[in-house]
Amino acid sequence: MKVCIIYDSKHGTTEKVARAIKETIEKYANVDVVRVSEVKSLKACELVIIGTPIYYERPLKSVLEFLEKHSEELEKKKVAIFIVYFAIAFGSLVRWHIQNHYIKPLRERIHGEIVGTLVLRGGIGNIREGEIEKARRWAFRLLDF
Ligand SMILES: Cc1cc2nc3c(=O)[nH]c(=O)nc-3n(C[C@H](O)[C@H](O)[C@H](O)COP(=O)(O)O)c2cc1C
Repeated sequence: MKVCIIYDSKHGTTEKVARAIKETIEKYANVDVVRVSEVKSLKACELVIIGTPIYYERPLKSVLEFLEKHSEELEKKKVAIFIVYFAIAFGSLVRWHIQNHYIKPLRERIHGEIVGTLVLRGGIGNIREGEIEKARRWAFRLLDF
């Protein structure tokens, strides 16, 4: 299977996750990791994994614009999403907030089959090993679809 991991990142955290995912699945699939600004074509991709950090309460604009620009092409692909965030003080509303403000803008722009969604807590250029492990397990399961 051809997997394309497409991400953007300001401080490298999301990039670390993207690279860890590649490392995990590349024994079983043909995997490319590409920054959103450098994507040339999605033609060969069967599964597209999109990764974005959250800045100022939303996914990066570059990623949202990418999804809009490639909307038609993505309709024919399997798509999975991961976000990296660091919300601190939303208390019991945190899950609702993540779904409505962080995930929804991505989902709304994807008209194809969404085969997975992953939420990770990251810092500024760093992320806990546990979160990387979570990403590895998630990515591995995506190959079953
Ligand atoms: C200026 C700035 C604004 C941020 N805004 C948010 C936010 O609104 N909500 C949130 O959950 N995390 C926010 N974060 C945390 C980032 O999403 C988190 O640190 C992420 O791991 C950064 O990913 P990156 O290193 O790939 O850019 C912010 C971080 C910075 C530096």
